[in-house]
Amino acid sequence: MTPLAKTGGLADVSAALATYLHGAGHDVRTLIPRYKRIDEAGVDIQPVKGMSDLSLQLGPHKVRCSIEKTLLGDSKTPIYLLNCPDAYGRDSIYTDDGDEHLRFVLLSQAAIGMCQQMNFAPDIFSCHDWQSALVPLYLKATHAWDKLFSATRSVLTIHNIGYQGMFSADVLGDLELAGAESFLHQDDLNSGVINFLKTGILYADLVTTVSPTYAREILGDEYGMGLNGLLQQRGNSVVGILNGVDYDEWNPATDKHLPANYSPDDMRGKAICKTKLLAELGLDANRGRPLLGIVSRLAGQKGIDLIEKVVPRMLSQRDFALAVLGSGESRFEQVFEWMQRQFPGRVTFYRGYNNTLAHWIEAGADIFLMPSRYEPCGLNQMYSLKYGTVPVVRETGGLADSVEQFDAESATGTGVLFRDYDETGLEWAINRVLDLYADGKSWPKLVANGMARDYSWERQGALYVKLFRELSGQQ
Ligand code: ADP
Ligand code: GLC
Repeated sequence: MTPLAKTGGLADVSAALATYLHGAGHDVRTLIPRYKRIDEAGVDIQPVKGMSDLSLQLGPHKVRCSIEKTLLGDSKTPIYLLNCPDAYGRDSIYTDDGDEHLRFVLLSQAAIGMCQQMNFAPDIFSCHDWQSALVPLYLKATHAWDKLFSATRSVLTIHNIGYQGMFSADVLGDLELAGAESFLHQDDLNSGVINFLKTGILYADLVTTVSPTYAREILGDEYGMGLNGLLQQRGNSVVGILNGVDYDEWNPATDKHLPANYSPDDMRGKAICKTKLLAELGLDANRGRPLLGIVSRLAGQKGIDLIEKVVPRMLSQRDFALAVLGSGESRFEQVFEWMQRQFPGRVTFYRGYNNTLAHWIEAGADIFLMPSRYEPCGLNQMYSLKYGTVPVVRETGGLADSVEQFDAESATGTGVLFRDYDETGLEWAINRVLDLYADGKSWPKLVANGMARDYSWERQGALYVKLFRELSGQQ
């Protein structure tokens, strides 16, 4: 949950959704681990009465922990932190450690225990990704006796079906299932596997994902990553809601990170942002040359293999520059390191995580590149629209739902989309956007169309509330 801890878009979305719900008057109590990565400077963390010395039994493990409370950023949104240094006092948020399953069994058990301790009967348990996907199982299996939860419904939101939390069946004893082992997927168990996300899909009262197109895509073989059959069985209980954008954080008119602000009425600040960005990154001071930006986790999903095949060739053919910010798999980091060496002054790669630079690239680039192989929602393309930075995206998942193909004749549309995940597709799209950039008539229109789009949480959050109300029978 940004600004506490972040690896990707889940942080932005979980923070904004909780803030929206809280602002709309709902009693939202969010629990996240007190990760070591949380920058606690200026964060006021308070103990919660009766919860400062908890003891949870997880199979053979007795875990001591406490629950504390803080407010999210500058908001009044309450956040509960699960303090357990043994589990969360590690350098990264997610790990490959042998007890990774236990870290999130603990989170799920603590969330339920916290409600019991507070005598808080939530209408909805909103669980995000595999890390909390066992909660629906616990509510139906081991905690079905508890009248506190008799009206509680669970919603599992899948932010990325590529991460399922698959563990060896050897961890069974750690899950605290006490006689309810038969609730687990039996074929999996027999083949030695426990899949947390799959378990959530089996038992959540409703499954949502983060865009309507992705909700359809994961029903098929290509995108379902082995869970498509199960999702199909859930029929209408799989719903896609496009993520929103937190425009308090991502708005060029008010963005505190930028060297200059701007808005559709006065775009002078964008030119300043570009000049400063070029200088900051050591790129040629050539403001007329189109600048492409990338801000990304460097993972297989993000289309870096395609960029590697297409972009170096195009850099030799056409005049543009590229600014990349990202970190992740080293094979992808090497691609950009190589490109930087190959095209000095035109390609720059900042390896690492840097929120200020992410804002600078959104503002200073002319074009944003996101050729994802798959993309459940994607946030940067929506940020780009607001910043007048034209997105070039593959037509998949949330990218297809948030970017509209520009049509020069009618001057409608907000970006450039290509359909097939292949070299021809990406090459076509980059050529197309560079041609549009050179077309003094189309470009300002294309930029303005994007800036006029509204993906605020006021709209998207209301869709969650509607679903939650329907599910809990409060029409
Ligand atoms: P995903 O969640 O798959 O990584 P999204 O587009 O939903 O993709 O969200 C990515 C979020 O993480 C955005 O807010 C983006 O600005 C941020 N981000 C990704 N990589 C970096 C980085 N290296 N430095 C700063 N912010 C980053
Ligand atoms: C995931 C997806 C991304 C989505 C984000 C927030 O990390 O990869 O597409 O925007 O979650 O829902």
